[in-house]
Amino acid sequence: MKIKDLKVVYDAQAIAARVAEMGQEINRLYAGEDVVVVCVLKGAFMFFADLVRHLDMRPELDFVRVASYGASTATCGTVSFTKDVEVPLQGKHVLLVEDIVDTGHTVDFLFRQLAARGAKSLRLAALVDKQERRAVPVRVDFAGFALPGGFIVGYGLDYAERYRELPGIYEAVIEPEGA
Ligand code: PRP
Repeated sequence: MKIKDLKVVYDAQAIAARVAEMGQEINRLYAGEDVVVVCVLKGAFMFFADLVRHLDMRPELDFVRVASYGASTATCGTVSFTKDVEVPLQGKHVLLVEDIVDTGHTVDFLFRQLAARGAKSLRLAALVDKQERRAVPVRVDFAGFALPGGFIVGYGLDYAERYRELPGIYEAVIEPEGA
């Protein structure tokens, strides 16, 4: 698969405006509470960095990374940690930050794992809620944008580790095999 062209889906300005709104929603919900905000690497790094700058409850920040096995473009049911949380979660509110929810397997795995650490509540902020391939039901508490389908890159999202640095989100136009 080769990317032939990129079409803007959400530009940097639209993303910044939506992320600011999400930050305010999150602030209202957690005012005065102990919150751990957890970034799911790598894809969420840019959204996380922008989102936490809007948060005013002085949260603890942590990072996780997971690996999934199976087809390269869709997460299957086998997910495991390659980097676990380091901050104790017992009795604290946990906000998981994802760039995109696709099949739902990654979030489903993380919610089960983090719930077992005694978190007081678990919520999810996802910049893009992509429902086309959802295999496991997932509640997205704070959703940036709902996208029906398509292959997107940029603002943290990659194709073969490239395009993550782009300030906007783009739909990738794929060159047909053998072209
Ligand atoms: C992407 C994305 C989510 C996950 C969502 O990560 O960042 O973590 O897939 O897919 P799912 O809902 O089908 O589980 P990816 O595995 O591409 O790794 P990356 O974040 O390092 O790019």
